[in-house]
Amino acid sequence: MDTSTTFADNLKLPIHRWYRYTAGYSGQWAEDVIRQDYERKGKPKGYKVLDPFAGSGTTMLAADQTGVASLGFESHPLVNRIDAAKLSWNTDALAFAAKGQEIADLAMSIDEPLYEYPPLVEKCYSPENLLEIDHLRKALERTKEDSPEYLLAWVAFVCILRSVSHAGTATWQYVLPSRTKAKVSDTLKAYLRQIDLMADDMIFMQNSGALKLSQVAAQDSRERYSGLDGEVNLVLTSPPYANNYDYADATRLELSVLGDIKGWGDLQSLVRGNLVRSCSQAVSKEKPHTYEFIEDPLLAPIHDEILDVCKRMEAERENHGGKKNYHTMIVLYFLDLAKVFVNLRAYCKPGSRVCFVIGDSAPYGVYVPVDDWLGRLAQAAGFGDYTFEKTRDRNIKWKNRKHRVPLKEGYLWMEG
Ligand SMILES: C[S@@+](CC[C@H](N)C(=O)[O-])C[C@H]1O[C@@H](n2cnc3c(N)ncnc32)[C@H](O)[C@@H]1O
Repeated sequence: MDTSTTFADNLKLPIHRWYRYTAGYSGQWAEDVIRQDYERKGKPKGYKVLDPFAGSGTTMLAADQTGVASLGFESHPLVNRIDAAKLSWNTDALAFAAKGQEIADLAMSIDEPLYEYPPLVEKCYSPENLLEIDHLRKALERTKEDSPEYLLAWVAFVCILRSVSHAGTATWQYVLPSRTKAKVSDTLKAYLRQIDLMADDMIFMQNSGALKLSQVAAQDSRERYSGLDGEVNLVLTSPPYANNYDYADATRLELSVLGDIKGWGDLQSLVRGNLVRSCSQAVSKEKPHTYEFIEDPLLAPIHDEILDVCKRMEAERENHGGKKNYHTMIVLYFLDLAKVFVNLRAYCKPGSRVCFVIGDSAPYGVYVPVDDWLGRLAQAAGFGDYTFEKTRDRNIKWKNRKHRVPLKEGYLWMEG
């Protein structure tokens, strides 16, 4: 099976493997794409790769491994910080290990009552592990500083939060406290093991010939980033799919442990509002204006088709108890991506290439030809021909109805 569009292979790759990001794609594949494009263009000076949906930083790490400059945009605050930490792989590994040990030592010396945690957190950890998690969190809070060593020590904590939980995690990273694992490690031991693994990976990467030329910005790709116009040779990315996956909710456990969110409202204001609208939870306020959004000139290239799909989804919604606003989500999803294409066109040099790893979808069983619509929106923004290269078939089961619409995933290539 072609696994290039999945994160699976990254679990063996240094740095990539620190944080298991199920929404990611293969680092090796990204490196191959970048290297081929760079060589095909004759290794031009100032060559730059952009990933407007950086996720766990796969593209930028691959660019560092190829020795070319790159920039990533990631507007999910937790994921953005994980990226920044991974891209600090060039930090002195011994200084980082010493910082990690210092934080673990401080955690062991703390003897205080627990912070108050939401029920999800209490359900996910044994009392012993929650105590150690709480002490590590406090040790991190007390030693907080603006240094790469600290950032790496912080990410080591975030990276172990799933492995020391007895709760199962669904394919898409949701936490299932009802499905319990038989054995989990002690938190402090897991933390120190993670520090060791990360230090080893950093030394490996530093000796591999990689160049640290990457950057990540806490940027919403729908907004224009200044100073990038005409700078980019290759866009390599994977946007959220229009399949109702909630990137905000997927990190609820981590955000709750860190004390960044207290409840649903914080998740919306801190995270969801910054993201492309690819889940129905993000669009309830906009629902009354769904048909006005369809009239936005940015959607003109697909106007009649999206209107038809939207009406069919809205009608189908009546047959389902959950009454999800998929029809609104689909409209806003394409509107958001149309904005992204306008920005990408401005950033890209003539002769650039754009690759979107993308899957199509069928909310409530109504098929949405995502690759074709995105290709046409990109053309309307000024890109040239597009082609879709399928890598695998998918069959996502929608919560409220098992539809049989065949789905696919692959690369949408667009000429700049
Ligand atoms: C499919 S994932 C990318 C995975 C990445 N290729 C990897 O290998 O880790 C899409 C990412 O886009 C981010 N995202 C969603 N909306 C965004 C926006 N408007 N601007 C920037 N990033 C956004 C999400 O938080 C998510 O991490």
